[in-house]
Amino acid sequence: MAMDRRPENMERITTPALAQAFIDEQIADLRAQIGDKKVLLALSGGVDSSVVAALLIKAVGQQLVCVHVNHGLLRKGEPEQVIEVFRNQMNANLVYVDATDRFLDKLAGVSEPEKKRKIIGGEFIEVFAEEARKLDGIDFLAQGTIWPDILESEKGIKAHHNAGGLPEDMHFELVEPVKILFKDEVRVVGKQLGLPDGMVYRQPFPGPGLGVRCTGAITRDRLEAVRESDAIVREEFAKNGLEGKVWQYFTAVPDLKSVGIKNGQRVDEWCAIIRAVNTTDAMTATIEPIPYDLLTHIVHRITTEVKGINRVLYDLTPKPTGTIEWE
Ligand code: XMP
Repeated sequence: MAMDRRPENMERITTPALAQAFIDEQIADLRAQIGDKKVLLALSGGVDSSVVAALLIKAVGQQLVCVHVNHGLLRKGEPEQVIEVFRNQMNANLVYVDATDRFLDKLAGVSEPEKKRKIIGGEFIEVFAEEARKLDGIDFLAQGTIWPDILESEKGIKAHHNAGGLPEDMHFELVEPVKILFKDEVRVVGKQLGLPDGMVYRQPFPGPGLGVRCTGAITRDRLEAVRESDAIVREEFAKNGLEGKVWQYFTAVPDLKSVGIKNGQRVDEWCAIIRAVNTTDAMTATIEPIPYDLLTHIVHRITTEVKGINRVLYDLTPKPTGTIEWE
C-alpha cells in the first residue's frame, strides 16, 4: 500500500541498491493503484516530474500520457531533450505542445514581474487543461510532489502545488510516487532509472522559466539573447567541472542598452549578467568565485556569439541583499 507520510525511521536512499528497492516497491504500488486506468502527467523535464514519468512508464507503460508544454521560456535544448529521452528512448506516450506564440503574445508589453508570473501560470493551466480535455478516460493525475513540499505546505510556508489549480470540473485522483522522498533521494532514484545526468543533476529552474531572467517586458529577440547566453554559461561550467558543484548559474538580460563597439561600428546593445550562487535552502546565497580565466572566456564567447549583447557583467551580490533571480 502506498505511503502518505515518510516513516520516521526511513533510511536515506543513497545507494543504487536502496534506489532499486524503492523503485520495485513503487512499481507494485502504482500498478495496484492504477489498475488498467490512464494517468496524466505534466512533464516539465525537471528532476521530479522526469522521475515520476520514468517510474510510471515502468509501472503502467502506455497507460501514462505525458504532456510537455513548451511555453517558449525553456532553456536551450530542453524541449528537445524531453522528446528524445521520453518519446524516443523510453517509448512514452508523449503529447508535445509548442505554445510559445500563445505565451509570448499574452506577455507582450507586460513588464510587472508579478503580472508576468500570473500570465505564465494561468496560461500554463489553460493549455494543460485543454490537452487533458482532448483525452478520453483519464482517471489519475500524477505529480512530482516531494517530501519538503508537503512539510512546507503543512507549515504554511508555501502552497502545495496540488492538482496545479486545474478547473473545478476536472476531477482526478492524485498519484504522487516520490512524495516521501527528499530531493537528493529523487536524484539517486532517477539515476537508477537510467535518466541522463543532465536531467538528474539539473540545477533548479523556476516555473516561469527564462521569463524571470528577461526582466521588464519580454521581447523575442532579448529572450533569445537570454537563452543563448545561458547556454554558453552552462556549457562552460560543464566543460570546466563546475556542473553539479555550483548550486545555480545562469544569465539575466535586463531591458537596458548601452553604447559599445563591434567590428569598428558603434552599437547600442544589451548587457548579459552572469549569476552563479551557492546555497543550501535558497533563503540566503553566496557567490561562486568563477575562475578569472573562465570568466574572461565566457565574456568573450557571449559578446561574440550572442546577438544583441555588447557587455557582460558579473553579479557579485549575495542574497540578501539581492535575490537569486533578477526578476
Ligand atoms: P529568489 O530569486 O527568490 O529565488 O532568491 C530562490 C530560488 O527559487 C527559484 N525560483 C523558483 N522556483 N518556481 C520555482 O520552482 C518559481 O516560480 C521560482 N521563482 C524562483 C530560483 O531560481 C532560486 O533557485
